[in-house]
Amino acid sequence: MADALHFDLTLYPAPVLRRPALPVTAFDAELERIVAAMLERMVESRGVGLAAPQVGLKKRILVLNASGEKEDARVFVNPEVLERSGAPVLFEEGCLSFPGIFAEIERPEACRVRALDVRGQPFELALEGFESRILQHEHDHLEGVLLVDRMSAADKVRNKTALEELVRDYKRKQAAEAAAGR
Ligand code: CO
Repeated sequence: MADALHFDLTLYPAPVLRRPALPVTAFDAELERIVAAMLERMVESRGVGLAAPQVGLKKRILVLNASGEKEDARVFVNPEVLERSGAPVLFEEGCLSFPGIFAEIERPEACRVRALDVRGQPFELALEGFESRILQHEHDHLEGVLLVDRMSAADKVRNKTALEELVRDYKRKQAAEAAAGR
């Protein structure tokens, strides 16, 4: 068996976070390794959700776990949001790609999603509350839409320094990698 994968988090403003992810077409052992490593990364990072672009992959995969209990982990491959419903709710969101940054984001209360499981079997789920919130946030990632795009002008101002620091850290890291000839 191939070695287990281990993913690092991709942080804003890495370009992969901005590119729409591509549908998964192969439901094989490699996909299982990717999903297992995404779940592991989410747990290690104490996140409630993670999308493949956040580990540098342009693939339409997302995982979530609203409670943190192992049995509540959910995996969605090629998810489609079929319907969003209910009143718009304001809720404070964070994002593993934006460490230390939080913003009140308005989203519909519930959603209905269709996706494939890791073996390619289709399923549909109606989500509400926190799970619906996480799903919608992670689905945004697959479209290249980020927390910073959805936050209010006031939250942008409040998070200005932290956002600028992320950009500075990213540029510094890029320069170091270029200098190392990578
Ligand atoms: Co996020």
